[in-house]
Amino acid sequence: MIRSVSRTLAPMQAISQILFDEAVSAVKSAWPSAAPKLGIILGSGWGGAIEDFSVKSSLSYEKIPNFGKAGAPGHAGRLLHAAHNGVELFIFQGRRHVYEGEGWTPVVLPVWLLKQFGAQAVLLTNASGGIRDDLNPGALMAIEDHINLLGGNPLTGAHNPAFGERFPDQTEVYDRDLRRLLMDGGADASGIYIATPGPSFETPAEIRAFRALGADAVGMSTVPEAIFANALGLRVAGLSCVCNRAAGLGDGKLTAEEVILAADAAMPRMRAVIREFVERFI
Ligand code: HPA
Repeated sequence: MIRSVSRTLAPMQAISQILFDEAVSAVKSAWPSAAPKLGIILGSGWGGAIEDFSVKSSLSYEKIPNFGKAGAPGHAGRLLHAAHNGVELFIFQGRRHVYEGEGWTPVVLPVWLLKQFGAQAVLLTNASGGIRDDLNPGALMAIEDHINLLGGNPLTGAHNPAFGERFPDQTEVYDRDLRRLLMDGGADASGIYIATPGPSFETPAEIRAFRALGADAVGMSTVPEAIFANALGLRVAGLSCVCNRAAGLGDGKLTAEEVILAADAAMPRMRAVIREFVERFI
């Protein structure tokens, strides 16, 4: 007997404002007077980087409709309402990724929540593999610009004016002044982040190609949120913890465990840069 197989590809469905609004209502009913000025999305290995901040309340992603469950290792899956130095914060402890296969909606939902709660800016963090020669494990790279190799864009679909212009300018996705705050706060370098869909790590040939394209570090996230936040008019900052030399540039094979261990080792500095950033943020 022929096994039944799905004959449709799972498309990257257009983001849905209806699904977004259900999530906003749930968070508004939990925290009616929240007014974050800044949002922080904590990527792989970054979960513990906000321990200097005072957390007022926390909401599991499972309680937020259409967010789903953070599936990547080291992603707690919690939204924290926090504050530091007088700056009210929403902190997303864990992100959803394109490779989880649930479409754009859960990936960019944090950005929509921030916009609806009146935030002005978002700090996107991630783990990456270093391509440029100076980007060794433990280096913290402020993202200067990105290359989108995800094979898609979260703004694909019928134009919804609530999501900004049909053709948003991307000349300066990552805000120059916010990048300066990251550098002043202790980031080691700035550079270009290239996003691949994952979940496989790259091949050495791909890494050689990415270097030729001008990429300094490679990862599987951040770009959808940056594209969407820029379109919505939020100021965007990006901070990457380089956790390994990219494929073919170091010794041996890459593993997710190695990435988390490298982030753990860099944690005191990750924590300090985030703290300094929030303290300098106006
Ligand atoms: N490639 C892609 N994503 C990553 C890497 C890498 O080498 N390291 C951490 N996240």
